[in-house]
Amino acid sequence: MAPKSTGLIGHPVSHSLSPAIHAHWIKDLKISASYERYDVPPETLKETIHKFREQKMAGFNVTIPHKQNIIAELDSIDKIARKIGAVNTVMRVDDLLIGTNTDAYGFVTHLKQSAPKLELTKVVILGAGGATRAAIVGLKEAGAKDIVLLNRTEDKAKILADTFGVSHVDWDQREEMLRDTTLLVNTTSLGMKGAEPLELSLDALPRTACVYDIVYAPLETELLKTARARGNQTIDGLGMLLHQAAAAFRLWHGAEAAVTDALREKILKIL
Ligand code: ATR
Repeated sequence: MAPKSTGLIGHPVSHSLSPAIHAHWIKDLKISASYERYDVPPETLKETIHKFREQKMAGFNVTIPHKQNIIAELDSIDKIARKIGAVNTVMRVDDLLIGTNTDAYGFVTHLKQSAPKLELTKVVILGAGGATRAAIVGLKEAGAKDIVLLNRTEDKAKILADTFGVSHVDWDQREEMLRDTTLLVNTTSLGMKGAEPLELSLDALPRTACVYDIVYAPLETELLKTARARGNQTIDGLGMLLHQAAAAFRLWHGAEAAVTDALREKILKIL
């Protein structure tokens, strides 16, 4: 049987860690497959998917800026992709291209493994982008009771709050909102290498709270550094990246892709 071809489409994709993550499992599990990166500007998305169909590509990941536009090019999307409103993984089933989304799974799996006893009584989420949608869906499935969104552009927070039945408050209230919070999640790009820092005093945050930053470059953002220094448990964004990739790998290859310390160390070296 010919090796299964898989890969990633996005624009840009040169810095993506996904090829290294998938290469690790392909080698480790001795699977006959390849995983390539495809830099696909929006204007060539349609023809690229057409080519993938002809080549009988087994599956592919989808990243910025195609996570929503890809939906029109697929035969169908599943329930979780519909809920999140975006696709990050496509699989070929009987020559049909089916879109799904493993980001919510990745987000929650890493959270549960890192803080299994954490009570999700009040969750504060900063941001209102695509990653926020996945975090909300994952957290609701994990039983989060009270989810509050805060975003610089409040209209976007309001749309998400209405869509998912959660609440939203003004971005300026982000420090006082931390009172009684059990989980604080940053889904904005603030704190990422090359982006502006996230200005946030954690004074009101209980020390028993957990702080989860989905940014992974740098691995320890200023937010996590500050949280750790005052005694809060911190969760970095690398685990979410690894677990969402593992879920895609299982769908394509039916093989158990393990997220191990060895894999984490390997990826950290190229971060
Ligand atoms: P993704 O889809 O990957 O989550 P995105 O849609 O670009 O990315 O979202 C980036 C998030 O970071 C948004 O919530 C954005 O806030 P706006 O909706 O107001 O743009 C947030 N963000 C980016 N730069 C910011 C800044 N300087 N201050 C506050 N929030 C910022």
